[in-house]
Amino acid sequence: MVRRFTNTKLLLKKAHKGKYAVGHFNVNNMEIVQGVVKAAEELNSPIILATSEGAIKYAGMNYLFSLAQEAAKNTKVPIAFHLDHGRDLKIIKQAINMGYSSVMFDGSNLSFEENIKITKKVVQWAHKKGVTVEAELGTIGGKEDTVEAKKIIYTNPEMAKEFVRRTGCDFLAIAIGTSHGAFKFKGKADLKQDLLKKINKTVNVPLVLHGASGVPAKVVKQAEKYGAKLSGVYGVPNQQIKQAIRNGITKFNTDTDLRLAFDAGVRKIIKTKPKEFDPRHILGPARELITEVAKERILVFGSKNKA
Ligand code: G3H
Ligand code: 13P
Ligand code: ZN
Repeated sequence: MVRRFTNTKLLLKKAHKGKYAVGHFNVNNMEIVQGVVKAAEELNSPIILATSEGAIKYAGMNYLFSLAQEAAKNTKVPIAFHLDHGRDLKIIKQAINMGYSSVMFDGSNLSFEENIKITKKVVQWAHKKGVTVEAELGTIGGKEDTVEAKKIIYTNPEMAKEFVRRTGCDFLAIAIGTSHGAFKFKGKADLKQDLLKKINKTVNVPLVLHGASGVPAKVVKQAEKYGAKLSGVYGVPNQQIKQAIRNGITKFNTDTDLRLAFDAGVRKIIKTKPKEFDPRHILGPARELITEVAKERILVFGSKNKA
């Protein structure tokens, strides 16, 4: 049986009305999918599973789609399936045709007019198939596998309003000071909450915050205890996430926290059980730590019991 994924836009509209947010979790393999879905089930929360172009390159779109389908088939919690940071129009088209709930077109590296032109085209393709579209205006900092920006360019509220009107995008990723990866701030976390308030007043679609990982101290400590070198890592503090929800964010993207959990889980076993070589015994505890970390995110987002 093929179960349709939940419509991302509907999830976000409901969240916006209920004054909570929904977690977007990046997935790259089976253990991450299972770990995150278990967290959602235990807390009765909706979630968005997302694949980046890097994840697709690593695991294959069909594999990741099938894993997410399997999860959606076997659970009562709403699961949306999303393409993160789509830049390759061929991949975006494939995702739309395959049955993703939503796709992101990331035109943050383009001029305002070029970003509008291509986002509009993606919206037309996607809406024909009932797929919703996330776009990005401004630039989120940091570097991941296929996603890179040297510096943050804050989103301008008036330009955001014009961008949404002219493209017809369903939700908008904005830049208010976060960056991708584990090194988000030097010294003090600095999110432009006043700018967020202004954007929320001028723009009438749900707002998305990328680079929203919290980089939990407990997980970093475990990874470091077993050999990781992570000095200088810094995430978005929970109070700032909660304030951002009050100021209008309804979707938070989390990848780094899951990577850290996976890393800390694997390191612990390798270091403490040098005779262990069964992948199930090495990856199983990492999957459990992913569930723990994802549950903490869901609690901060306020989506517990909103399934
Ligand atoms: O926002 C970026 C995500 O963390 C995906 O990163 O391109 O390394 O898969 P990736
Ligand atoms: P983090 O690196 O903070 O987890 O952000 C992930 C992200 O924005 C995915 O789109
Ligand atoms: Zn991102």
